[in-house]
Amino acid sequence: METVDLLLTHIGQLATPPASSQARKGAAMGELTLVRQAALAVRQGQIVAAGPQDDLEARYAAVEVVDGGGRAVVPGFIDPHTHAVWAGDRCAEFEQRLAGATYMEIMAAGGGIVSTVRATRAASLDQLVAETRRRLDRMLAFGTTTAEIKTGYGLALEDERKMLDAIAVLDEQQPIDLAPTFLGAHAVPPEYRGRTDAYVDLIVEEMLPELAYLLYTVTPEDGPVYQRRAVAFCDVFCERGVFDVAQTRRILEAAQAHGLDLKLHVDEFEPMGGTTLAVELGAVSVDHLVRTGDDELKRLAASPTVGVVLPGTPFGLGSTHFAPARRLIDCGGAVALATDLNPGTTWCESMPMMMALATRFMHLSPAEALTAATLNAAHALRLGRRVGALAPGYQADFLILDAADYRDLAYRYGTNPVTAVYKRGKRVAGDG
Ligand code: NIG
Ligand code: FE
Repeated sequence: METVDLLLTHIGQLATPPASSQARKGAAMGELTLVRQAALAVRQGQIVAAGPQDDLEARYAAVEVVDGGGRAVVPGFIDPHTHAVWAGDRCAEFEQRLAGATYMEIMAAGGGIVSTVRATRAASLDQLVAETRRRLDRMLAFGTTTAEIKTGYGLALEDERKMLDAIAVLDEQQPIDLAPTFLGAHAVPPEYRGRTDAYVDLIVEEMLPELAYLLYTVTPEDGPVYQRRAVAFCDVFCERGVFDVAQTRRILEAAQAHGLDLKLHVDEFEPMGGTTLAVELGAVSVDHLVRTGDDELKRLAASPTVGVVLPGTPFGLGSTHFAPARRLIDCGGAVALATDLNPGTTWCESMPMMMALATRFMHLSPAEALTAATLNAAHALRLGRRVGALAPGYQADFLILDAADYRDLAYRYGTNPVTAVYKRGKRVAGDG
């Protein structure tokens, strides 16, 4: 008998997308591996086997056995689009919007993103880490085990670097693995107001050449110290009144030349042609897609770029117009789900809430929503061979639900359906 570190037994239903070296597209998004009376074997933080309990009990002796109590087990969620690092809040703007002002009107009047930039610039690194830590703790409790975090509330070299420092510190301090994105082109900062091209020059000539090569030191508990790039992806808010397609292209091509992978905010309020640009440049993901037209959607569906949809954003803005995710899947595309966690449009840390919205308003099936929140979300971060599925060789990041059926993740809402969160085979949140 082989010995493993952990055997999770009495799993009432194990639900996972199958391991896949690329994002699951079209009809494949709805195909899950479902095993009743299942078990999961873990060694050195990795899954060794996932399948029928009888088989696994015959094959493995375990140092620790955990009884799943007949509950459902799914992969940890991957949140591939967040703005989780910021200081302050925009509660007053929320009330202005309730009274009729639009998000873009508030932004054009000098509020919106720029008001969070002021608060973030004024905050110390320690404050920024402490405020963000509380949000990451909530994300973890709701089952997120890997997350992307964008900069974009600094908008000056030193302040963007402070945000990257905060992400690096938080990556070391808490269990969620963090993938950092440089979003220097999130808004035009006050000191460049009316001079967008000059700000694009600053990004291309000073910020990217500096930040793309910034390294931080990683000190794993058991293993050698190594250095990691502080930035993995570059993103741009391509929208009318922010950065146009030509400016976006300039920034993304420069980022690509520095070896960064690309992401893009497109069509959140108006279609601009950004989706076509993302596909042309081979972006790893293109995000929002609320107003994307059918031609661009088909182009995206035919490409390897993952469409990341963020149903919390229209919901947070009080809109009922959601991204055409159903159509993208029906055209054969790959869809991932994310929270877009930010203080302006949507302050929500919960991926199950995104599944609840995506099933009702985007017409995804619960199976498609699970694939979108796990494996496809991992592929939107180029991590889909390591996390996002419960299969041999994948990292042992999994959730024990407070339910016997994974569909409860989308069916129930407003409470936490996650009982326990495991990261690399160790329980990091919830109870036994
Ligand atoms: O994705 N639209 C750009 N960025 C965020 C909002 C950020 C903010 O308002 O602070 C979004 O919705
Ligand atoms: Fe966003």
